[in-house]
Amino acid sequence: MKKLFIFTAILCFSHANNEMEALYLQNGCNGCHGMYGEGMGASPRLQGVREEVLLRRLKDLQKGKTRSAFGTIMVSFAKALDQNQTIEMAKYLSNLETKVDDERYEIEYTPAGDGGS
Ligand code: HEC
Repeated sequence: MKKLFIFTAILCFSHANNEMEALYLQNGCNGCHGMYGEGMGASPRLQGVREEVLLRRLKDLQKGKTRSAFGTIMVSFAKALDQNQTIEMAKYLSNLETKVDDERYEIEYTPAGDGGS
């Protein structure tokens, strides 16, 4: 019974994780924060940052509170996440590692839904 529980927990975790990966890429977060949240220019590193910090920062941004003058660009992206996605995204980013795999790049370039163009 315990084994089944652990299996289910792992399954749920990896499902949520895949969902966040797709959300991260389809919302274009990688365009500013990098493919693996490594950060670029004015866009801070997200990979491996503590979950509580990311969550607090996302909530601040949703209220329009930024850390820098460039931050205003991030406000609409933060607002695009619903409450549950905000929590899951903070968790996802804090566990994100640079693992170069082609599948990830495919998600980035696969348009959602219409299967082409
Ligand atoms: C147009 C560029 C751009 C895009 C696209 C973008 N961000 Fe950001 N992001 C920024 C900038 C700039 C900041 C710094 C905000 C500030 O100064 O407060 C930031 C801050 C953050 C922070 C807070 C980090 C910290 O240390 O303060 C998180 C978390 C974050 N972004 C997640 C995301 C997610 C998730 C997405 C996709 C839904 C996304 N970003 C899309 C530019 C971007």
